[in-house]
This record gives sequence, structure tokens and C-alpha cells, in this order.
Amino acid sequence: MRTVEWYDGRVRMIDQRLLPAEFRVLECESAGEVAEAIRDMAIRGAPAIGAAAAFGMALAAQRSGATDRDGLLSDLNRAAETLKSARPTAANLFWAVSRMIQRAESGADAEGVREGMLEEAQALADEDVLINKRLGQHGAALVQDGDTILHHCNTGALATVDYGTALGVIRTAHEQGKQIHVLVDETRPRLQGARLTSWELQQLGIPFTLIADNAAGHFLRTGQVDIALVGADRVAANGDVANKIGTYKVALAAHDNGVPFYPCVPTSTVDLALPCGDDIPIEERPSEEITELTYQGQPVVPQGVTVANPAFDVTPHRYVSGIVTENGIAYPPLTLNLRRMVEGSMEMQDDHDD
Ligand code: MRU
Repeated sequence: MRTVEWYDGRVRMIDQRLLPAEFRVLECESAGEVAEAIRDMAIRGAPAIGAAAAFGMALAAQRSGATDRDGLLSDLNRAAETLKSARPTAANLFWAVSRMIQRAESGADAEGVREGMLEEAQALADEDVLINKRLGQHGAALVQDGDTILHHCNTGALATVDYGTALGVIRTAHEQGKQIHVLVDETRPRLQGARLTSWELQQLGIPFTLIADNAAGHFLRTGQVDIALVGADRVAANGDVANKIGTYKVALAAHDNGVPFYPCVPTSTVDLALPCGDDIPIEERPSEEITELTYQGQPVVPQGVTVANPAFDVTPHRYVSGIVTENGIAYPPLTLNLRRMVEGSMEMQDDHDD
């Protein structure tokens, strides 16, 4: 199944909190339940939470008792606020909700608004898969036969509706018959690399080695990495990239060792309204994500320890070799070329609307 989908009047999603130990499907019956699933990271990854929020809006439209257009729009605006409050960093969440609100406002009456909501959410989810496959084709051109690729967090099918972004590039290169090897950062504290990327690569039959996050610098310095590929939650107009905590250190070590570093993102992750990465809101997650880690069945942290747990960091654009999108690869100067990539997708959206 897809990571998130509409099924029988409900939103169902793969519960990523339990993988790889257990494959369980979570069903949501309201926008509030979808928001909670996003907040608690049952579903995570920027494009996946965007699609979940879009389906959450469709649920809100179906559950609303409003019989007139204005009443329905005000219920939808309330649902939009609930969904947007779930996580602050991923641009895709805000982009998806705003696309849904725009569609709602174009409905002539309550029935038109309701129908439009499900249609739009479905279209957004279907597009996500196509976008990832196009992105994969562009990015795979950067990967040579025999390459070792360093990857951080999880950017695969689970982080999107299907196929993946950086992991989609890796998957495309593998499907092209290139012999590649992936070094998978475990990605503390939620271990998206160890739990989810390992699980996906195993199923795809792509050779990989799991490494402790702290080992990435060693592999980069000793010439054992050809290219670093990551995803992103938000990219500012100047090419500064917010991604899973630890990405900045990967980019620094890659830069110091002349290893190319490419974030791979759908253009919906690019936020042209933010001039630079300093303006990207960085989510602070609950301290329990760190204090409740166990080793050999025992807590690793003494009781009462003060914890800081930022979920993302910002990599300045000077360490970014290029940004892979569904419309091609944006190279420096990123302020100019990223905008071109995003505007390329707007033109296509216009063509599509005609
Ligand atoms: O906290 P998460 O697991 O939602 O963070 C996910 C990431 O940082 C991914 O790299 C990013 O969303 C890109 S996913 C295609």
C-alpha cells in the first residue's frame, strides 16, 4: 500500500512508529486524528505529511455538518489551522493545506466544495508519486556505477506517498543497473535511518551498511563516500536547507573532503517567501525522545537530565553542491536557479489547469 491513502471514507497510513518490528495500518476518521498522527510521527517525512494533511482536509469536508458554502469553508479553515499546528518545519504541510483551501474557495456551493476536497487530495497524492519518479531520473544522473552514497534520515517511500526523494534517486540508479552501496546514518534520536531506511533498502535489494551517525565524518574523510544525498523539510529562497538534525555536520564533512552534497526535494519543499535559512522554524521535539532511549533494556540517561532536542538543522547554501528537483537540478547561484525550478513547476501546473 501507499504510505498514506484514502480508503473507504477514512485516511489510512502505515504507522511508522512501530516499524520495522510491526507493520500496522492506522486509520484516521477526522482531521484532528490526522493532525495527531502527524504530531506523534505515525506519519513523517515532508511530502508524506503534506499528503496526509490534504486527506485530513478531505475528511474535514466529509465530516462537516454544514449545509451552506460559508459554513463549510469556516469548518475547513478550522481544520486547516489544526493540521498546520501539527509540525512547524516542513514546507509541504503548509503548501498542501493552502492548496486545499484554494480549491475549497473555488467551489460554487457546499456540494462542489466537498467533492473538490477529495478530488484535490487524491490529485496531490498521485502527483507526489510522479514527481518523485521524475526527481529520481534527474538525480540518478549524478550517481555513477560503483558509487558509495551517504544518506541521512529516511527519504524513501515512507517519507512520501510512494517512491521517495533522495532514496528515490538511489532506487532509480539501482533500477538502471548501477552497482551502488549506501551508507545509512542511523539518525538519532528517532532512528529513521536505522529503522526505516534499512527496512526499505532491504526490501528493494539495494546493498547498504548501517553506520552510527557519529561515523559519517570518518567515512567521508577516508575517501569512502562518493556522494551524499539527503532530503529536506524546507529550502529557503537562497538555497539554505533545513533537514533532519545532523544533516549540517554531514554537509560540513562532505565539503571539507570535496564530496558533493545534494538535497533532493520536490519543488513544494522550496519556500521562496523565506529569504534565508535563519527564518525557517526549527521544531523542538519532546525530551522523552532522548530520555526514553534504552540500551540493553536500561535507560541510557540518568533521571532529571536536561535535554535539548531540535529535530532539524539548517545547512547554509555554500555547502550545497546542487538541489535535485522534479524539474531538474538547480546549481549555484541557487537564488536564481531554484526560483527557475519552482517557476517551472508553476508553469506546468498552469498547463495542467488549462
Ligand atoms: O522528522 P521527520 O522524520 O519527519 O524528518 C524527515 C526528514 O528530515 C526528511 O529528510 C525530509 O522530510 C525529507 S523526506 C522525503
